[in-house]
Amino acid sequence: MLSKKNIILGVCGSIAAYKSALLVRSLIKAGANVKVILTADASNFITPLTLATLSKNPVYTQYFEAETGVWSNHVELGLWADYMIIAPASANTIGKMANGLCDNLLTAVYLSAKCPVFFAPAMDLDMWKHESTQENIERLKSFGNTIIAPNKGELASGLFGEGRMAEPDEIVAFLTQELKKGLPLLGKKVLVTAGPTYEAIDPVRFIGNHSSGKMGFAIAEEFVALGAEVTLITGPTAEKTTADLLRIDVISANDMLVACTEKFANSDITVMSAAVADYTPVEVADQKIKKKAEDFSIQLKKTTDILASLGKVKKEGQLLIGFALETEQEETYAKEKLLKKNLDLIVLNSLNDKGAGFKTDTNKITIFNSAFAKTSFETKSKTAVAKDICAEIIKLLN
Ligand code: CTP
Repeated sequence: MLSKKNIILGVCGSIAAYKSALLVRSLIKAGANVKVILTADASNFITPLTLATLSKNPVYTQYFEAETGVWSNHVELGLWADYMIIAPASANTIGKMANGLCDNLLTAVYLSAKCPVFFAPAMDLDMWKHESTQENIERLKSFGNTIIAPNKGELASGLFGEGRMAEPDEIVAFLTQELKKGLPLLGKKVLVTAGPTYEAIDPVRFIGNHSSGKMGFAIAEEFVALGAEVTLITGPTAEKTTADLLRIDVISANDMLVACTEKFANSDITVMSAAVADYTPVEVADQKIKKKAEDFSIQLKKTTDILASLGKVKKEGQLLIGFALETEQEETYAKEKLLKKNLDLIVLNSLNDKGAGFKTDTNKITIFNSAFAKTSFETKSKTAVAKDICAEIIKLLN
């Protein structure tokens, strides 16, 4: 959910400021871009160096940095953010935010930000209970800001009660849940396949193909961003993902068949973008095959067509989407595969189109639905193509 999201973390003067280091680390681990703003008091509790190192960005403390002559533009920072989190939010900063005061960079960015704002209060129990604090919090809620409620526990003062800032992991879990609300594919289970398969010849050789896995990974990540619970079954690839999904690594077409068959029954939407080998050696040599004869041939047998086998057991309400990679008579072959494999959509790539196919960062696709209605798209980045494919699938659901 937080992958590639721009987050401003505002840190106020509170002993809980030490937890902001862990919070930054968790946000970065979740794939977010983080910029930290410290109030003057916060710098007494945690150093800008710690947070700059963890966030991999300069830390902002004031409008104007005298030593460097750098002016921190609060409007630009506010507009950069997809989300703003103030954690710990002190009673003082909550009061300023509730009343439009902006005598420091953090509160000025808050006033400029158009994004959703979350705040995690941290203070002693009597400050927390005070009517002015509670009124200010109600005002912030009425502005549409979201509170991440403090916990009960031992406080820095030695007293016991409400006011302990939520733990960094709780804040990240809260954010993830909040961001999921209202997403179009929340609750949907999605299966995506990606990459090539490798068919072993002997312990050191295999038959493979040039698929990089980029398209399938982009599709899986887009489904996660839309709120789905995603299983990504991938052949050997250098691709990595920080998205919150279940990744299952396989090698051969048969491994992929076994993994897909197990996961398919539970999937609402399945997208087979893997370049599965159509043939595999009849026999796999136990030892490395030595070079002897001038000619050498390997006998191959057909693999199971995974997509077609899923199409046979597809139930009412399940959506099955396949790819067709063609070099000639593209539309005819794509439509044939759509029918033969019992698909709801087929995504056609033609290797004749510049910027389409394997290894590139771009793709050019045409989608056919089961009534053969055709939608063509321009050449785009694979991330943008993944968005188009998911948008077409959402149209089917509606
Ligand atoms: N596919 C599959 N299992 C296979 C081969 C292909 O699930 N053993 C899937 C691919 O993931 C893709 C679709 O079938 O979604 C079409 O793959 P493609 O290679 O274009 O076509 P094939 O059906 O293999 O036919 P051909 O190679 O003759 O074009």
